[in-house]
Amino acid sequence: MRRMAAQVLPLNIRKKRFGQPVTRLPFLYSRTRCDNPASSQYRPTPLKRTFDLNAKKSSAETSPSRLVIHDLAQRNGHAEFSQDVRAGLTSNPRHLFPKYLYDELGSRLFEAICEVDEYYPTRAEDEILKTHAEEIAGCLPTSDTLIELGSGSAEKTRRLIEAFTRQRQELLFIPVDISPTALATSAQALLGSYPNLRIEAYAADYYQALAALPDFGPHPVLVLFLGSNIGNFEPPEARRFLHAIRRVLRPHDVLLLGADLKKDRQTLEAAYNDALGVTRAFIVNELARINRELDANFDLWAFGLRSSYNEAMGRVEVSLESLRAQSVNIRALDLTIDLAAGEKIHVENAYKYDLDDLRTLGNETGFALERTWLDSAERFSSNLFRVTDL
Ligand SMILES: C[S@@+](CC[C@H](N)C(=O)[O-])C[C@H]1O[C@@H](n2cnc3c(N)ncnc32)[C@H](O)[C@@H]1O
Repeated sequence: MRRMAAQVLPLNIRKKRFGQPVTRLPFLYSRTRCDNPASSQYRPTPLKRTFDLNAKKSSAETSPSRLVIHDLAQRNGHAEFSQDVRAGLTSNPRHLFPKYLYDELGSRLFEAICEVDEYYPTRAEDEILKTHAEEIAGCLPTSDTLIELGSGSAEKTRRLIEAFTRQRQELLFIPVDISPTALATSAQALLGSYPNLRIEAYAADYYQALAALPDFGPHPVLVLFLGSNIGNFEPPEARRFLHAIRRVLRPHDVLLLGADLKKDRQTLEAAYNDALGVTRAFIVNELARINRELDANFDLWAFGLRSSYNEAMGRVEVSLESLRAQSVNIRALDLTIDLAAGEKIHVENAYKYDLDDLRTLGNETGFALERTWLDSAERFSSNLFRVTDL
């Protein structure tokens, strides 16, 4: 990747959940030349300008090189979004892609989902990481690099960062997320909390980032894929993705994979259709995003959320159902779609695993399942995979 001159990226940072104040920090921001700055929501300003919300100075403020963000997500991003929306909404049955749920608002809505009672996976995984972080860090005694794919707010990752920084002097954290705002917000918050942390972040699709990662150096790295993100992949795609991770790893590197477990229908369906309607807002936001970015006229009240567990397939299927017959005009695509009453637009699947599925997935993709930790209610699993021969 070619780098341009580093620039500071100003952001409106809000107070984070769990009451941690956020200090605004300067950081280096790299774009590729083919990005169109005019299309960016960011307004880069000259290097060395600092943004100090809290009068208190943190050590991070004196060291802007502690954070570099490579923004690859904007490259062709809009064209790809347009193509995918056209392809998905004109196919039979209609569908949308889950990765487009995470624009700036979508990332915040996902954070809100993590707070609702019904959505247990975040709390369950956090319990595991809180309980076993030292043990996990102990599995890679000389590692000084954590990579996280789909890092989001990286709130749970704090458990591991704390364990790693207790055991070593310095840590490099390489978060990857398709949402540049989630990435920048979480990176700034983490640097404010951990003076021994450096961050090299990639705002990018998973595959784009895997192809662009820096040399890891001599020590083992730990790759994190948390939050049961693996569940959003169809099984062949999950294998392709783990293969892609495996290909960038060396024999001493390790993968920690968070996977939600198969369980009763009621618990699963409630987790993807909470009574407060936060999940509905998160999913409907993809239509709102099409309205905003592609000049469409989806009536957001004319869609209901349908989340049902397909036990035979081991997945929760999440769709939007058109509540009446309606025509939607997507002006930027010069496209009109006619939806029948009751017609569904599929948005995401969330596959659930059992431990045999996970062991098999590893075996098929160059990993051996070495350890599994469960939360106390045995709802969620954190799985440590060692690299094997491909
Ligand atoms: C379900 S959230 C999980 C966030 C966090 N890892 C957690 O466990 O709470 C999925 C995250 O992956 C990111 N994401 C989704 N699809 C992606 C893709 N194709 N490439 C990179 N990041 C992606 C989203 O922006 C979001 O932050």
